[in-house]
Amino acid sequence: MLGSKKKYNGRQWWKEAVFYQVYPRSFRDTNGDGNGDLAGIIEKLDYLHDLGVDAIWLTPIYASPMADNGYDVSDYYAVNPMFGAMADFEKLLEGLHFRGMKLMMDLVINHTSVFHPWFLESRSSLDNPKRDWYIWRYGRDGHEPNNWASHFMTSAWEFDEKTNQYYLHMFSKEQADLNWRNAEVKEEIFQMVRFWLGKGVDAFRMDMANYLMKSESLPDAPRREGDTRPYVHGEGLYANQPGMRELLTELRSEVLDKYGAVIFGEMYFLTPETALEYAAYDQRRMDMLYQYEIVGARGDWEKVKKSVRVWYEAFKGKAWSSITFSNHDSPRPVSIFGDDKNARAESAKCLATFLLTAPGTPFFLEGEELGMTNVTYPDLASYSDIEMKTKYAERVSRGEDPGSILIDLARWSRDNARTPMQWNAETEAGFTTGRPWLPVNPNYPEVNVDFEQEDTDSVLNFYKKLIALRRKHRALIYGEYVPLTPDDWETYAYKRVLGADVYIIILNTSPREWHMKIPDELKNHRHKLLLSSLAPNSDMEEEFLLKPWETRIYKSS
Ligand code: GLC
Repeated sequence: MLGSKKKYNGRQWWKEAVFYQVYPRSFRDTNGDGNGDLAGIIEKLDYLHDLGVDAIWLTPIYASPMADNGYDVSDYYAVNPMFGAMADFEKLLEGLHFRGMKLMMDLVINHTSVFHPWFLESRSSLDNPKRDWYIWRYGRDGHEPNNWASHFMTSAWEFDEKTNQYYLHMFSKEQADLNWRNAEVKEEIFQMVRFWLGKGVDAFRMDMANYLMKSESLPDAPRREGDTRPYVHGEGLYANQPGMRELLTELRSEVLDKYGAVIFGEMYFLTPETALEYAAYDQRRMDMLYQYEIVGARGDWEKVKKSVRVWYEAFKGKAWSSITFSNHDSPRPVSIFGDDKNARAESAKCLATFLLTAPGTPFFLEGEELGMTNVTYPDLASYSDIEMKTKYAERVSRGEDPGSILIDLARWSRDNARTPMQWNAETEAGFTTGRPWLPVNPNYPEVNVDFEQEDTDSVLNFYKKLIALRRKHRALIYGEYVPLTPDDWETYAYKRVLGADVYIIILNTSPREWHMKIPDELKNHRHKLLLSSLAPNSDMEEEFLLKPWETRIYKSS
């Protein structure tokens, strides 16, 4: 068990691991129903092992009516039959452990599905013993109890005729927020977490980890100047509330530590300073935060560089960070941070070089290792994402032009990340023999695993080289991070330094050529080229031309 701060501060498997996110519904379908399944993940374990990743993050596989694709859980103890049975889950875990890999599960405990038996009971009458397990309030003058907006832009309250009260839902109305101030809820959930840890799960990614405690009085949220929308984001009233930190400390000591398990929090609305209240080694409420700043930079490399620098400085020696460009809630990084039209492979390699050499534990989503891109479907009906559809309806109701809304929402739609994995050039990209739940991206004949395995110069093979390089040179994990170029340059260079080991990483984050002169401090050293995305195999010269999106990694001596 990880007791002392000292030990915690040192080497840990989750600091060294590369995490690969599997979105089970879209990974590999073995029974032809158009939905991926656990047997499909088992079938591809050797692929993942060969890629070199150390752990998989499995998005929710619990029983769910799938209003929000599994983030609406109706039974925490059961596997969604769409994905298989508990025996498949156990086999998957065994297969991972056999290969020396770890499993991280999603822990969605801010809310349950409205079809969860707890909610059905809670909803049944005002005096039901589970009434207080959720957040129920009377309306005000025929309106919602307060002005909060859900994350999908509608009111955060849904009226229930039976008892004449509203329930709170920070996401869709199919996801009712649990009342974490109720001790029975806490006990019940802690027990459920023990159940999965007892099966051997290694880690959790905790969904909306700083949202569990809402402000007790639930007041109106302050309106931002100029915001005329009826509902308001009041994060100051539901994120990081009193009691939140203590609850996580309790989860750690009562549950996680007993199994030596680790937990990473999906958290929004934090500065590096407030983040330390959760992630600092001497707090250990979260082992690591699932970092969103880079995803939120929405293609702006200046912001990416600044974010890395600022968070690294704040966390140095005090906490550990993660690093990621994307997940199942964001568009494909190569379409946003790179150039998926003219330099798909080159820019995907540039993103990969950054992801695997910048400070923090890297996470990437299935298909990113192929340079999979955003998709454009012809109409709203072809999309599935509940967030996109809810926002679309809300904007149409405010009189915006439907065509423009669709173009705008399509670029950021969560479906971009969720299109089926592209395994080969056969029908439906080898994902299914049936009709996929979400249409396959039409670029699959050129962007697929089989094709990229054969091509030594592919994005996939570049990922493999980078992952192997990261594993071999510990400075790329634990080394100090020293930026060598200003944040506003189109070239990005930094050092990773561990003792006498010095690595220099140079990235051209733009579609333009860049004439590079090496900084004075690097002169009088030999810089041996370890890996490059495009360049000829030569060591560093004092001046050189970087092609668009080109990246190089050198070892200095
Ligand atoms: C997280 C998940 C997202 C889900 C939401 C509600 O942000 O990543 O997919 O919609 O939580 O559970």
